[in-house]
Amino acid sequence: MTNKFGIESVLSILDLSVEEVDELVATAEDIIANPQKYAHRCEGKKLATLFFEPSTRTRLSFEAAMYELGGNVIGFSSADSSSASKGESVADTSKVISCYADIIAMRHPKEGAPMVAALNATIPVINAGDGGHNHPTQTLADLLTIKLEKGRFDHLNIGVCGDLKFGRTVHSLIDAMSRYEGVSFTLISPEELKVPDYVRNAMINKGIPFVETTDLEGSMPSLDILYMTRVQKERFFNEEDYLRLKDSYILTAEKLDNAKQNMSILHPLPRVNEISVAVDDDPRACYFKQVRNGKYMRMALILKLLGV
Ligand code: CP
Repeated sequence: MTNKFGIESVLSILDLSVEEVDELVATAEDIIANPQKYAHRCEGKKLATLFFEPSTRTRLSFEAAMYELGGNVIGFSSADSSSASKGESVADTSKVISCYADIIAMRHPKEGAPMVAALNATIPVINAGDGGHNHPTQTLADLLTIKLEKGRFDHLNIGVCGDLKFGRTVHSLIDAMSRYEGVSFTLISPEELKVPDYVRNAMINKGIPFVETTDLEGSMPSLDILYMTRVQKERFFNEEDYLRLKDSYILTAEKLDNAKQNMSILHPLPRVNEISVAVDDDPRACYFKQVRNGKYMRMALILKLLGV
């Protein structure tokens, strides 16, 4: 998305073309192979991390990414410690931060808040997660993991399991992977947590093959990737519903008996109960590799948006 000042921001994974994603993956792979080459690329530059909602991976990986590029970081990790608590708007905050920093990574509980920031900022804005909507840089982490594990993005049956309604990483992953030939989705969730209509309709309009089911074990043998997700407690309107649905799916070592030997297990984390700790030792478990890959892809994205 480019604003009236000509500033390019990334609010959705679809703001990046397939070619741009390929370039980011190639840059990330080069950073992994030659980290010293990139150690000073962002000297004199500042990243502002504006996190109005809790985070471990996204905020700290953005910060680690900027430090590893030789840059600096400013920001806040909760709305309470910013002037949002006094009533400042997202639009004003983004104008103010444009005076201090060179690039913004913003997480916000309201869908569309990073878009408001991007429309008003004179520096690039990266959506670091907006409500139950999108999480494009998690998807960049997912894509690098898929590339490194499977060697390709095409001809994969991707099982997505858990909270497909509120899980923003799911919506961005479906957007991203729908662009590759031969990709199909097996959407595994309780009835109440199926993907929103706008996600389902986009798949139908693009002719993407998908099935919706409640059956994880029955789906297992056909999957090339299993993307587990947490039930998003913070998006529920009443606790009773959350308690009823939170343990709908728990991936155990036994449930993997029917899975392909080369199936990759992904999870954006944080995990609560949905993957048993015993699965961590299975060679198919990729979720901690995903964490590492997220830092490299965020480094690549910062380099691209800063043009350095
Ligand atoms: N995957 C992810 O967004 O994790 P955090 O909420 O810890 O940033």
